Amino acid sequence: MDMLNAGLRRLPTWSLYILGVAIAAWVIVPGLQAIDPVRDIERGLGLWAVRVLLLSLMITPLRWVGVNALRFRRQIGLVGFGLVVVHLLSWLVLDMGLRWEQIAADLIKRWYIMIGMASFLLLIPLAVTSNDRSIRWLRKSWGRLHKLAYPAAILAVVHFIMVQKVWTAEILIYAAILAALLGARVWKFGPSRVVWG
Ligand code: HEM
Repeated sequence: MDMLNAGLRRLPTWSLYILGVAIAAWVIVPGLQAIDPVRDIERGLGLWAVRVLLLSLMITPLRWVGVNALRFRRQIGLVGFGLVVVHLLSWLVLDMGLRWEQIAADLIKRWYIMIGMASFLLLIPLAVTSNDRSIRWLRKSWGRLHKLAYPAAILAVVHFIMVQKVWTAEILIYAAILAALLGARVWKFGPSRVVWG
């Protein structure tokens, strides 16, 4: 564990942003040559967004077992948000072709789009306040505000389940990881502290 923590201490935090760009490229570049590029790019970005979002929720429980990756939490959160934005753009531009009437119709017609959008909206205040100034300014409320990450992650996984339509093994794994991450907090702090801080 000491070696892992020493390695993490040496890793510059900005390298996470490079990793985020690399993930987007990893999805988009091969996606462009796929049989259905729009579907592959859209889904690939969504999948990575949910992975990174869950990773950001792992930082606290990892500390309990001695892994200190706390200094990367902001970067991981922002990379996750960036992937959500690119995922949203892939839907707006590639899938909908920026046809606003169709976008509005899809939003109303498809519940999974509405749920994804709700998750995105909850993530916006988190991304906007992920800086030192906001932490100083909001003080205790900052921690409470950042609890929005929990409903945002729940909605993201529900959105994922609704897209897939059936309970695949993949879905079960993501749902189980989310349940374990939230359950661990409830077990450690109790439900009222998890919800209200
Ligand atoms: C901003 C609003 C959002 C919109 C408009 C949106 C839209 C979509 C669309 C159109 C699909 C593909 C559906 C299909 O192929 O039939 C999709 C899939 C997906 N989205 Fe979103 N989404 C949004 C937010 C999110 C968020 C916040 C997350 C996670 C953090 C997310 C994660 C996923 C995942 C995991 C998939 C499925 C990937 C797969 O099947 O492998 N989405 N989304």
